[in-house]
Amino acid sequence: MSPVSVPLPKAYRLLNHGPTVLVTSAHGERRNIMAAAWNMALDFDPPKIAVVIDKNTYTRELIEASGTFALNIPSRALAEATVAVGSASGRDYDKFAEHRLATFAAEQIAAPLLEGCLAWLECKVIPEPHNQQQYDLFIGEVVAAWAEPGVFHDGHWHLEADAPRSIHYVAGGAFFETGETFNVGQRG
Ligand SMILES: Cc1cc2nc3c(=O)[nH]c(=O)nc-3n(C[C@H](O)[C@H](O)[C@H](O)COP(=O)(O)O)c2cc1C
Repeated sequence: MSPVSVPLPKAYRLLNHGPTVLVTSAHGERRNIMAAAWNMALDFDPPKIAVVIDKNTYTRELIEASGTFALNIPSRALAEATVAVGSASGRDYDKFAEHRLATFAAEQIAAPLLEGCLAWLECKVIPEPHNQQQYDLFIGEVVAAWAEPGVFHDGHWHLEADAPRSIHYVAGGAFFETGETFNVGQRG
């Protein structure tokens, strides 16, 4: 299925459960992808997210040059690729070509979006030089968001038994897969 647009005030729900993401970036002819387990939703409207991007990464260079990046939410099918793109730098080779990762164009930013993911958030950096320098912490405003309608629609995840799920990195190549959904209703 083709990705469908997620209303921006609902974009935080793509990250609320803490999935590991793939950060894509681009500047001029250069593009890159890395894994990031340290990310979170930060606000509803306008939606904002936070992600840690280490100083040594090539991704950091491209994000600082372009002021934009995307968070791509992979499923288990991309777990090996997640570890691979999180274990070597794109300064040395094109990770998309090396790992046969297909992309499609984002709407608002130059960074490519990774095919086969469950959802995508296009972000513009909100400059916070102290946090970036001191903590490697980048805050982004989400300017467009997309999801596979089979797993996220009407502002909610719909993870049927056989649905692909997002993944949560532990360490040493081990992940949890997003588990069973249960609902206690809303009060008030
Ligand atoms: C599963 C996983 C999660 C990671 N999470 C983060 C993270 O949150 N922040 C970070 O700076 N690096 C993280 N890394 C490390 C980067 O992905 C790694 O340094 C990567 O090689 C950088 O690539 P680049 O130099 O091409 O940008 C993670 C690695 C893995 C395997």
